[in-house]
Amino acid sequence: AAIEKGNYRHFMQKEIFEQPTVVAQTLRSYLRPVEQKVALPQIDFDISAVNRVTIVACGTSYYAGMVAKYWFEQFARVPVDIDFASEFRYREPVLEDGGLALFISQSGETADTLAALKHCKAEGQVIAAVVNVPTSSMAREADLLLPTHAGPEIGVASTKAFTCQLAVLAALAAHFAVKKGRLDASEEAEIVRHLLEAPAALNAALDHDETIAAMAHLVAPARDVLYLGRGPDFPLALEGALKLKEISYIHAEGYASGEMKHGPIALIDDKVPVIVLAPSGPLFEKTVSNMQEVQARGGQVILISDEEGIAEAGEGCIATIPMPKVHPLIAPLVYAVPVQLLAYHVACAKGTDVDQPRNLAKSVTVE
Ligand code: G6P
Repeated sequence: AAIEKGNYRHFMQKEIFEQPTVVAQTLRSYLRPVEQKVALPQIDFDISAVNRVTIVACGTSYYAGMVAKYWFEQFARVPVDIDFASEFRYREPVLEDGGLALFISQSGETADTLAALKHCKAEGQVIAAVVNVPTSSMAREADLLLPTHAGPEIGVASTKAFTCQLAVLAALAAHFAVKKGRLDASEEAEIVRHLLEAPAALNAALDHDETIAAMAHLVAPARDVLYLGRGPDFPLALEGALKLKEISYIHAEGYASGEMKHGPIALIDDKVPVIVLAPSGPLFEKTVSNMQEVQARGGQVILISDEEGIAEAGEGCIATIPMPKVHPLIAPLVYAVPVQLLAYHVACAKGTDVDQPRNLAKSVTVE
């Protein structure tokens, strides 16, 4: 059956709003809510013996992989390598026995990622694939298939596939941690509970759609926009900048908040909107102090944080986007929503072709 936009103006908008449902759908196949356990598809190898994870992907899927690196290292204490597929394939990566190579792809067909997968397979790595199209080439080649249940994604700029990838990757990280004896049953239960809070938190984030739409005029006239985040929210800054570039054609850069003083701070003046992602949590104070460095130079900050964070640091910002207060584990999923919506509304304000941005393709099947 043809997929329709229903009451939405664009597929991208529809897909952004589907996230609570499709993330819940995805989590359902990786978590057992009653037992409060993580449940992965049956695998015939010993996950506790995996000594290194190599993550390879492109575009938005790559940023999901970057978030996963923080989770795998933090929870399972397993070292993680991550690379763009186009770089990985030709840099002669060292792949030792006992490694798991993890490929993330919405389409399951991206040529660079598929070539990297085949290379790792030939090198004897165990192959895991997080893909949204279950009949895709990557799905067929994988030893461990980890489907996302986002449903067909039509908008060229990926949205719901990304949050579903994060859901699967969080469950995988928790599974690793359990198998490696890093999480006991009560800690596992706690992680499961936090993940199950994600759909409602995504809904709460979506409630701010109109607030964000009303801010589009702050960003639409800009020539350059900077996105800042720390830790697992640093890849979200990269994803936010990518979304804006893709559909509004405004130059945007994502940066690790603490690294900004080593270069990008030179760009700051009162014409550059700076989007700061700062959920309250262990990294909040540090991010805020980087934000103040921006403000001291006339930077126009839009702060995305929860009520507590906004109360503490919102003063002096040109706008704030309130998010529900969530556990840091699910913050990357929840904070995807405001950066997607901001890019979406800025693109609408500029009148670009949101679902079919110029020069871009949904699935890139050339290397
Ligand atoms: C293209 C799309 C992006 C996507 C990337 C990777 O560039 O426009 O939205 O993130 O490919 O695609 P994949 O299907 O491998 O996730």
